[in-house]
Amino acid sequence: MEQELINQWNRLVGFTSASQTGDGVMVSGGSQANLIGMMMARHHACPDIKTNGFGHQKLIAFVSDQAHYSGQKAANVLGIGVDNLIAVASDSDGRMCPSALIEAIEQSIEKGHKPFYIGLTAGTTVLGAFDPVPQCRVIADQYNLWLHIDGAWGAPVLFSQQHKHLLKGCELADSFSWDAHKLMNVPITAAVILTRHQGMLEQTCGGGGGDYLFHNDENAAHNLGQKSIQCGRRADALKVWLSWKAIGNTGFEDKVDQLQILKDGCVEAIENSPQLHMIGPAPYLNVLFQYRPSADLNEVQLRELNIALCKAMQTQGGAFVDYAKYQGKTGIRLILANSDTQVSDINRLLDNCIKTGATLANQG
Ligand SMILES: Cc1ncc(COP(=O)(O)O)c(C=O)c1O
Repeated sequence: MEQELINQWNRLVGFTSASQTGDGVMVSGGSQANLIGMMMARHHACPDIKTNGFGHQKLIAFVSDQAHYSGQKAANVLGIGVDNLIAVASDSDGRMCPSALIEAIEQSIEKGHKPFYIGLTAGTTVLGAFDPVPQCRVIADQYNLWLHIDGAWGAPVLFSQQHKHLLKGCELADSFSWDAHKLMNVPITAAVILTRHQGMLEQTCGGGGGDYLFHNDENAAHNLGQKSIQCGRRADALKVWLSWKAIGNTGFEDKVDQLQILKDGCVEAIENSPQLHMIGPAPYLNVLFQYRPSADLNEVQLRELNIALCKAMQTQGGAFVDYAKYQGKTGIRLILANSDTQVSDINRLLDNCIKTGATLANQG
């Protein structure tokens, strides 16, 4: 089941085509997938580290300033050092700036360091932005860097003929993270790390266990253990396989398409409301907006008010919303991941934000 799922995922990403076959292994989540992506990048740049450990060279990794914090966890675990993970500036749409990336790479080379990894995001955690893959592939080739895409949240857009353009060029990446436990609604945890380089997972993660576990017999090809950093693994493939069998690619396509329609309606309702304001673009299924009762409040006051609003709604027993900060503004972070959500649910939520916000604002 796991091998069949990996085949399907690789086809969607484009790592499996007429000329190549992609590879992969299921992992505990996007964080571990990103860790393995960075580990393959480290192995690609300096294979000796696996056997000899680090020498004196500083390896430098690049992600956008909107990337998920799992990049820092990976830099920590892999001995890169979190200070050597550079947060490259993003543009006004929250997408990594290719020119800022080149500048950051050049600066690290000038310092005598060794750039090795570019980590793009497909569907950033707060804004849902998609970093530009083709431009960054050119940069990765220019400097011989590994190009990883964190699609933990945004990857299922590939099911949709209408929206897959958001991930244009993803087949050009070296590795790709995909969470089934986010937009595919599979119960947590279920995720995969994919790569278009056959053998790279075994080379990077493999080693040991040959004397008792990994027998070179007729079942060897079914044992994915050497591609993993785990020994025992859960049978997460079973629930993904069943979910996928149940609704198929077209079922997931419908989910993505319906949610995009719901998102567009939600953004429109916010834009038509005098008290609610979008605080960033919404290219995907993340809607970040602020309750703003009057023009007199400054950003510090608005932050306090919007945090209090989210906390109050969490105790009311209705929809549970969280808050997040983007470009200095704090707002309500609505993530649309459940395609059973109706327009009436969204309207009730927005009305409730306004009512709760008004009560809090009147209380001062
Ligand atoms: C873009 C992105 N990458 C990675 C992760 C981490 O995924 P997981 O919780 O499956 O480790 C998240 C979680 O929200 C995310 O939004």
